[in-house]
Formats: sequence, structure tokens, C-alpha cells
Amino acid sequence: MGVQRFHRIILLLVLSLCFVFGSTSRVHVSYDARGIKLNGHRKLILSGSIHYPRSTPEMWPDLIKKAKEGGLNTIETYVFWNAHEPTRGQYDFSGNLDLVRFIKTVHKEGLYAILRIGPYVCAEWTYGGFPVWLHNLPGIKLRTNNEVYKNEMKTFTTMIVNLMKRNKLFAPQGGPIILSQIENEYGNVIGKYGDEGKEYVKWCADLATSYKIGIPWIMCQQDDAPESMISSCNGFYCDDWKPRNPNAPKVWTENWSGWFKDYGMGDPHRSAEDLAFAVARFFQKGGSVHNYYMYHGGTNFGRTAGGPFITTSYDYNAPLDEYGNKNQPKWGHLKSLHKVLKSIEKPLLYGEKSETGFGQWANATVYSYKGKSVCFLANVYQEDKDITVQGTTYRVPGWSVSILPDCETEVYNTAKVNAQTSVMVKKTNGEDDDNYEGNPFGGLNWVWRDDKPVGLSKSGHVRGSLMMSHSLLDQKIANDTSDYLWYITRVNIKKRDSLMGKKKINLHVHTNGHVVHAFFNKKYLGYKYSVSSNDFVMDKRIKIKRGKNEIALLSTTVGYNNYGEFFDETRHGIWGPVKLVGENHGEKIIKNVSSSLWIYKSGLYGEENKFYEAGIHNARRAWHSTSLPSNRPFVWYKATFPTPLGTDPVVVDLRGLSKGEVWVNGKSIGRFWASLEAKGCNDNCDYRGAYSGEKCVTGCGEPTQRWYHIPRSFLKEYEDNVMVVFDEFGGSPQLVKIQTVTIGKVCATAYEDKTLELSCQGGSVFKEFHFADYGEPEGDCGDFSRGSCGARHTMNIINQKCLGKERCVIRVSDETFGASHCNGEKRLAVEASCGV
Ligand code: GAL
Repeated sequence: MGVQRFHRIILLLVLSLCFVFGSTSRVHVSYDARGIKLNGHRKLILSGSIHYPRSTPEMWPDLIKKAKEGGLNTIETYVFWNAHEPTRGQYDFSGNLDLVRFIKTVHKEGLYAILRIGPYVCAEWTYGGFPVWLHNLPGIKLRTNNEVYKNEMKTFTTMIVNLMKRNKLFAPQGGPIILSQIENEYGNVIGKYGDEGKEYVKWCADLATSYKIGIPWIMCQQDDAPESMISSCNGFYCDDWKPRNPNAPKVWTENWSGWFKDYGMGDPHRSAEDLAFAVARFFQKGGSVHNYYMYHGGTNFGRTAGGPFITTSYDYNAPLDEYGNKNQPKWGHLKSLHKVLKSIEKPLLYGEKSETGFGQWANATVYSYKGKSVCFLANVYQEDKDITVQGTTYRVPGWSVSILPDCETEVYNTAKVNAQTSVMVKKTNGEDDDNYEGNPFGGLNWVWRDDKPVGLSKSGHVRGSLMMSHSLLDQKIANDTSDYLWYITRVNIKKRDSLMGKKKINLHVHTNGHVVHAFFNKKYLGYKYSVSSNDFVMDKRIKIKRGKNEIALLSTTVGYNNYGEFFDETRHGIWGPVKLVGENHGEKIIKNVSSSLWIYKSGLYGEENKFYEAGIHNARRAWHSTSLPSNRPFVWYKATFPTPLGTDPVVVDLRGLSKGEVWVNGKSIGRFWASLEAKGCNDNCDYRGAYSGEKCVTGCGEPTQRWYHIPRSFLKEYEDNVMVVFDEFGGSPQLVKIQTVTIGKVCATAYEDKTLELSCQGGSVFKEFHFADYGEPEGDCGDFSRGSCGARHTMNIINQKCLGKERCVIRVSDETFGASHCNGEKRLAVEASCGV
């Protein structure tokens, strides 16, 4: 056999083996200063965060499809340690914690994945993702060079890595995961941990590399990361950021697409124009891996929100809204940007870069590659500017970037939005509330029952108590098994006690939050909270009696802290002192009971007895169907409701209720605090100028969060669903309504030579076009008016193309609408309503 023939046979053999074992899809991942390399080729990574526990497995395929349709090629997620290991050594990967299924869903769509294991993740997730039981391990110190902690972190991280390996999910195994992350933004706090912190970072890097998974590891916001790690940037803008390692690519792990919301805060909005501007600047300045944090924010189901005071909605004003709808125009405006970036991938990652300045804040960047060039024209001033490249002058709007893939034609400008704006509406039984002829109130039939305050038995005991102590303890002793912790004690008042006979006696409680309720001798005294500070005092008038007096304090948390140095050590619950304070002619008589014997009990009576699980028929006698109580704290309510028809997302409007938690068919859809008004609004929504979470905040005077998502997969198809509400402060469920969310109205403007896609959703179609003008229309969505030079038949043409359809695509040009003789840049503006 000739040598050549022999070689050919060997080659064929290798190729067929590759085919049999699927290694053709195995991807070798490496990197250099210009980018991540997949099988040796640099690849532009356009990624978006979708956190698997913040939606449901039934929602994942649609979310990921919409991310792909929006032009992403990668999905990023954190891994949520406390969700997977609520009790030490007992793991949960079921339902929306099925990480393997999530990554496989990403793979199925043909996308890559970035797995940020942490396992500290921050993420507005309770305790930053740490299980609270960690805190209670003897000798532990979190996020530093501490053996107890490192052991636990190693056990969990190893478990996750092995789980991924076993399922062949890393790219070199043929899976989608191309990058992984250890720790999270430790660089922001490392200073406070001294040398032990530095040791810890080294240990984290060594742990990560020891897994030999064949893909690079990231440490975000860790400029001095060991060389084995890629350090990356997080923030609203990362254009000027550079990795310290000259051989590492420029990676942006978190471009905050909007912002999160606290109870007590309005709705934050980051404009599509500013977000696109930040992305374009990043790529103009040599970026190669970019991730939207969040692409879909979703919902903090159950008690997973933390910070504290983070709302159940984690909408984030992301390109996909909390329920998975496209948040337009953001989604569409970014889709167009991704398309342009994709088209210039090679010049960006392989081309030669040169830059020309136009004043301090404007510049042109040219990427030359194989005899062709791509231009970015950036204007960081607020006012419009002229920028000249290759002999031609272009007008660049303030705070925007133009991309000219051939250095001649502006294909994209970040300030010119050519995507539709969708105005979302809530419907009751498929009708707008104005037309709805059913019960204007929610129309749900509620039954109710009281929770049972915990008190001492005659012998001074509490059934099912957690522990006893002569001191006031951190709420974390209960390992986060509930938001509620009882602190109960007895005070013996003797006949000659100096407090006896005093008229004004107060119970004084100093707490570290978040809410405290007080009972004295089994009588409810009231509650207090402060969302502006964890630390506050409650004083309540009491009547003491001779002999044994009972103090029962119910402390409530609204999620644990998640960020900052030593955040894990922040105390919550009754901090003390707890005192009885009597007044006698201006003289104070104080009895400090902080170190009397306190009995601790975790959870509410209704939690212990699973009121939320009981079917509507169970234990009916215990639930009252008589008139609903008003102003009565600690009440459980229950009602049934049919599943709304269609596919639009389902929400429950909790207007009228106070604070608590809601379950649907036994699944917690989250904490609510519908009685708390939003504050801190800011009507500066000009996209020009740097964004921060305080800019452009709306919804003040309204409940911080009124609507709560009920994923359709929680609902039953043929039977009624059971909703159970625990209401803490005495709200009323009378107005509670089940609704669906859909597009009500669509507005759009698009420039000449652009293609405009218009769509309704959930089976509804364009019912009526209220406005259409191609030329120089004026005004904004809601009050468009015709310009003087509009094409005459625009409305007819739009009607022909779109009326009665769920989706239509329009080429914005003279060809479509007929010539119109305008002086300026021509645009199409339309406004339409969707319906069935
Ligand atoms: C970052 C953090 C994220 C998230 C974000 C704000 O600092 O890494 O996990 O908390 O802030 O949404």
C-alpha cells in the first residue's frame, strides 16, 4: 500500500470516528487580545443573561428563541447555590432549577452558553446566592481565605462542574458552554479583606483551573485577577475599560440593560438609544464579548429576592419583559444593531484599527480588513456634531454612534430607532377594563382564616420551638426557612416592681429589620417597618399586670442582603435592647429584658400547616366564607379561578392587599407588598447623557408592584386553580383580579430605506391604524401629526399590508409609498391598535 493511500485511509478512519462520537461539534476554546477563539477563529460573542430560576422550563424555549431572533448567539446564567442546596447536602435540581435542561435548551437553539457559577452571585437574590446555613457553620467566614467556607464552596462548585461534565455540556465535550465564571465582583470589595482576600482570589483561580474543563474562566470586576483568569467589566458603560492583561480580550460581563427595583421605588427605564449607544461604543473601542444583564430579568418567585427589599418582579426593563414579551422598541433596536455587528465581525476582530478625534468627545474609528474598511462615528456630546471620514462629512446626533459597514453608508445609528414601540395592556377576561362587563371588582369568591399567633403555653413553652437563648439572636439562626421568626419571652413583674402602677409604660423594641410586629400578653400592639434603613425602633403603649407578662415579637425579613464587603454578616431581626419603659413624673423607669430567656420559633402557623397547599375542598370548615374581614392582620385568603384563555401571559393584580406572599396551586409566585407606594421618580428621560438607575423613573404614587406573574405552567387546563394569599398588615382581596398582558397599541417610526417589522401578539391582529404618514411626520407615539410633504396613500398602503394581520413587514421607501417631496430625512410613522 502506498504511503499516500495509507494516509488517506487513516484520515477517513479518524473522520468517521469523529462522526460516530459527535466530536465534529466539539469546540476548542481559547483566546487572545482580540477575542474568544472557537476552533481557532475569533468569534464575536453577543450574549444575554437569562436566569433559569426566574422563569419556568416551559418558558425557556420561547425566551431563548426570542434571544436568538434578537440576534444573540450566547445565553449567560448564574448558578444559584441556595436554591440548589437549601439544606446542607440536600440538592434540588427540579422544575425551574433544572440547570442541565436549561443549558440543553440553549444548545438546542444552537446558541453558546456562559456559566457564571460564582457561587457567590449578588444578583438581587437573597443572601447573594449563599445558603443561609453557611453562616451558621462553626468557624466560617464567607468570601475569604477560610477553610470551612472554602470547603463548602469547593464542594458545591465541584458538584456543578461535574454535573456539566457528566452531561457533556462544556464546549470541548460538544456542549454549548464556552466560558465559565468563578466568584463575582470580588475586586469591588477585596480591599476590606486584606491579605486573606488576596489569598482567596488565588485559591479561587486555582480551584477553577484545577477542573481542567478546557474553557477559559472569568473573574468579573477583578482587575488584578491571576493571569489564568480573564478579568471583565460590569457597568452601564465599559467602552474605556481595558483588561490589565495585554493578552486577554475585552469582555463585558454585565451591561445593565435597565435596573432592578426595590419596594418603595418607581420603575426604572434605560432607553433603547442609550443602551445601543453603550454597546456600539464598546465594539468601536475593541470589545469582543458582550453580555446584557439582563436580557430577560423575569420573576423572583418564592422568597428568592434579596438585597433586601427587592421586588418580586425582576423585569429590569430588559429587552424581554418579566413575562417574556418583547420589550419594544428596545428588543428590536438591539436586534438591528446585532445584525450590523454580525456583518462586520471579521473587520472588528481581525482588522486594523485607527482612530481620529473630533474634539474631546467625538471620534471616528476605522477598522481596515482585506482592503475594505468599516467606520464607527461616535458623538459623546449632547448636541449633534459633524464628523468627517474618508473625505465625507456625516451629521451624527448627540450621544450616538453611527456604523458605516463600508465607510460610506450609515446602516445604523444608535439614536435612530426603526423598531415598533409596544404599549402593553392588561385585560380581564380578554377585554380592556373599560369595556369589561363582568364584575368590576375582581369577582373572586374568597374564603379566609386567621393565622395563629404563637404564644407561650401555661408551662412557658412553645410547641415546635427552634431554640432558647438568653440573648437576642440574628434572624439567620433559622436558616432562612421562613421570612418570619418569633421571639418570645416572659417578664415577671413583682408586686413591688417600680413599674407597677405606672400609667404610661411602653414596650421599646430595637430591631435590625425588616418589619416587626409586637404582641403583649397575647394582645396585638401593631407593627412597624422602615424601607430606608434596616435599623429602627418601635415603641408601643402596654398595660402590665402583676406576675407573668408575655412579650411576643414577630420579626419579618424581606430577603437578606446580597452585596458589599461582609454583607453576609449584616444582622437582621430583633437586635435589642427590648425594654419596658415606664414614666413617672418625667423620671424614666427602665426594665431591660434583652437577656431574659427568649424562645425562638420560625415560621407562621399557616406556613407550618401548609395553608397554601390545601385544595379548596380541604379543611373547609376552618375557612370562613362570611364577609371578608377588613383591616385585620395575619389573614389567609383563598379563592379559585379558571385559567384565562389564550397564550398571553397571566398576572394577578393585587391592588388592595398589603404585604405577604401568594401561592397558585401550591407554588409561590412570590412575596408581595402592594400597599407600598413608589417614590423617587425622575422625569429626565432624555437618552442623551450618562444613565444611572435614578434616571427616568416612573410610577410614583402607585403601588411599587401591583401585578404578579403567574406562569401559565402553574395553571391547570381543565380545572379551576387555587390561589392562596397571606396578608400581613390587614389589606383586602376584594379588588384582586386575574388578568392577561398583551400588546394594546403599536407605534413606530422608521427612516427611509429601513425595513419596519410590525407585530401584535398572542393571536391578536392589527384592528385599526389610527395614523400613518410617510414624509416628515411630527410628534411622538400617541400624538403624531402629518407633516406637509407626506405621501398621499400611506394609510391605504399600510392598511392593505397590515390590517387583520398579526405581523407585517414594510420597506420604508418611495417605492412602497410613492414619491414624496420632502427636504429633510424621510420617515414613516404609524400608530395602530391590536385586538382579536
Ligand atoms: C452587579 C452584580 C450583579 C447584579 C448587578 C445589579 O454588581 O454582579 O449580580 O447584582 O450588579 O443588577
